[in-house]
Amino acid sequence: MILVTGGAGFIGGNFVLDWLDSLDEPIVNLDKLTYAGNLETLASLAGDPRHVFVQGDICDRDLVGRLLAEHRPRAILHFAAESHVDRSIHGPGEFIRTNVEGTFVLLEAARAYWQSLDPAGRESFRFHHVSTDEVYGSLGPDDPPFAESHPYEPNSPYSASKAASDHLVRAWHHTYGLPVITTNCSNNYGPFHFPEKLIPLMIVNALAGRPLPVYGDGRNVRDWLYVRDHCSAIRAVLAGGRLGETYNVGGWNEKPNVEIVMTICGLLDEMRPDPAGPYARLVTYVADRPGHDRRYAIDARKIERELDWRPVETFESGIRKTIEWYLAHSGWVANVQSGAYRDWVATNYASR
Ligand code: NAD
Ligand code: TYD
Repeated sequence: MILVTGGAGFIGGNFVLDWLDSLDEPIVNLDKLTYAGNLETLASLAGDPRHVFVQGDICDRDLVGRLLAEHRPRAILHFAAESHVDRSIHGPGEFIRTNVEGTFVLLEAARAYWQSLDPAGRESFRFHHVSTDEVYGSLGPDDPPFAESHPYEPNSPYSASKAASDHLVRAWHHTYGLPVITTNCSNNYGPFHFPEKLIPLMIVNALAGRPLPVYGDGRNVRDWLYVRDHCSAIRAVLAGGRLGETYNVGGWNEKPNVEIVMTICGLLDEMRPDPAGPYARLVTYVADRPGHDRRYAIDARKIERELDWRPVETFESGIRKTIEWYLAHSGWVANVQSGAYRDWVATNYASR
């Protein structure tokens, strides 16, 4: 049995589905169901005894302690977070609460539980912290990609809160011996991605004939990884990663935003042509994000060398699968575009 936090979100949800696709080991899934959590993502698991869903907050120490005592997991996989940079600019408080305080509460509960285990249980227990490449800050055009030894230089409230959580995880290992491992991954994309992030936003806006808002000059670079490749990386690290280590996970796939948007437009022209004309007509340059990191790139050689992990999807295969998924799941998209979603779109885009 493993305990997953944030397993109704984008990556956590894909991880739960991916895990139960290939293994029979049950999951307790603790998720608060914020705007980003969606049980529809897990609808295919209805009635499956291998998945126990608990709606609750990682900041709730009593609840986390009770879940650990009751289910006795061999590992905690910590995905739960506030994850959207633009939201962190408009309201950083929730990022500090969930990402920093929530990780602290979870570490303390994990420590008490781990200390209560017998020697064999203590030896095999793992606390896996899922983090981001954004903690390393921004690269210049000719800088080498982020290695695990890169200094932490977070620039947004989101990345600062994730950096703080990474430091707590590291400290709980060095001070208390808690068996932790951290992965720092690049930008994910794929099915069940909430349409506030670049790729799903561009797909759903294009299909609705709405503007495709590109921040600044559109030349900011991200490294993109198909979400199921991130899931396989986490499984590899959980199985064979060295305690106290961090592993960078990426797709060797650096692309400027405008190229991503144009690729999506071109594929939609082929897969769902719009009688009104090519989707690229909808591209609209808007005011830049404050403090917008220019470039992220991941050096993923450590996880490849030590754990023989590398991504299966290329960007070309992954983005095609992703668009096919959105075309086939218009009901999922319509359901997440609730009143609260419309409020966010108004907050973020009206003044750009
Ligand atoms: P997401 O925003 O889609 O999902 C977050 C989930 O956490 C939601 O289901 C939400 O309900 C839950 N949650 C939020 N606050 C909670 C709380 N206090 N208690 C319990 N549950 C809570 O995020 P995501 O994109 O799936 O990211 C998952 C993790 O991966 C995060 O830690 C993020 O920092 C990290 N990460 C994301 C990316 C990316 O590209 N999305 C890349 C690298 C790392
Ligand atoms: P995002 O998906 O928010 O991920 P992150 O900021 O964590 O990398 O954004 C990816 C890139 O796309 C980032 O450089 C900001 C840019 N972007 C836009 O140009 N327009 C948009 O509407 C959004 C949401 C993002």
